Amino acid sequence: MKQVEESCSVVAVTGASRGIGRAVAEDLAHHGCWVWLIARDVNDLDQVATKIRQSGGRADILAYDITHIEEAPRIMDYIVQRTGRLTGLVNNAGTTRRGSLVEISPEAYDEVMNLNVKSLLFLSQAAVRVMETGGAIVNIASLNAFDVLKGVGLYATSKAAVMQLTRALAIDVAERGIRVNAVAPGFIQTDFNAALWNRHELREWVETNTPLKRLGVPEDVVGSIRFLLGADSAFITGSVLVVDGGVLPSRLWPL
Ligand SMILES: NC(=O)c1ccc[n+]([C@@H]2O[C@H](COP(=O)([O-])OP(=O)(O)OC[C@H]3O[C@@H](n4cnc5c(N)ncnc54)[C@H](O)[C@@H]3O)[C@@H](O)[C@H]2O)c1
Repeated sequence: MKQVEESCSVVAVTGASRGIGRAVAEDLAHHGCWVWLIARDVNDLDQVATKIRQSGGRADILAYDITHIEEAPRIMDYIVQRTGRLTGLVNNAGTTRRGSLVEISPEAYDEVMNLNVKSLLFLSQAAVRVMETGGAIVNIASLNAFDVLKGVGLYATSKAAVMQLTRALAIDVAERGIRVNAVAPGFIQTDFNAALWNRHELREWVETNTPLKRLGVPEDVVGSIRFLLGADSAFITGSVLVVDGGVLPSRLWPL
């Protein structure tokens, strides 16, 4: 276990029960952070927390639906009561609903925008209020925030909002000594998109056309998030770090 970094000591991670969020939580705990795992399913979270504790790390769970934004202040207060402070927040939980924007329903719009954008903002707002000695927030955007993959227009719209929200919040909280950045992953294999990667032709296309010649895994994303939470990025705020194996600069899309 490495020494606890001052700027990375107590971090809340949303969507920590699986995929990228789980990998992030495990990585932060491995590097000495006390992690607070947030997702809806208490059993899934328990498994992650147990694994972290068995490896010598420190993890607690908070099982709730983050779209219940009225809970956010109470959640952040609770973490501070238990730990003395909150220094980091990783807004990772996200969802998608496929379909043309011509046909997308108001219900799908609310589901995606409420989780990806609204809950992210109000959780960040609650975190900022308790980060008395400064801190860092990292939001998970997406390649789709830059270029739109056909069929995920709603998701792309939400992630573009995450990117601009990151910049705007960074400006609004800078005077409090809080930094806000985003990581934009490319094609990362998780439960989120498992159905996509079962389509052989699509998987092959991505592997061929990603300059680094492979799909990403959650562990490919964790280092960038730890960096943006930690002291090595002390002069970086309002930035978006793309972690995509080179897809964005190559501007090639599978559809
Ligand atoms: N996997 C990719 O290729 C990829 C690419 C770019 C961006 N992203 C983004 O990365 C993030 C994580 O993606 P993933 O692939 O690990 O997803 P995932 O579906 O595997 O995990 C999502 C996590 O969010 C949690 N969650 C969902 N709704 C919630 C709610 N209402 N309240 C609390 N927790 C909730 C889930 O329980 C789960 O822990 C998302 O924001 C996603 O948009 C993923």
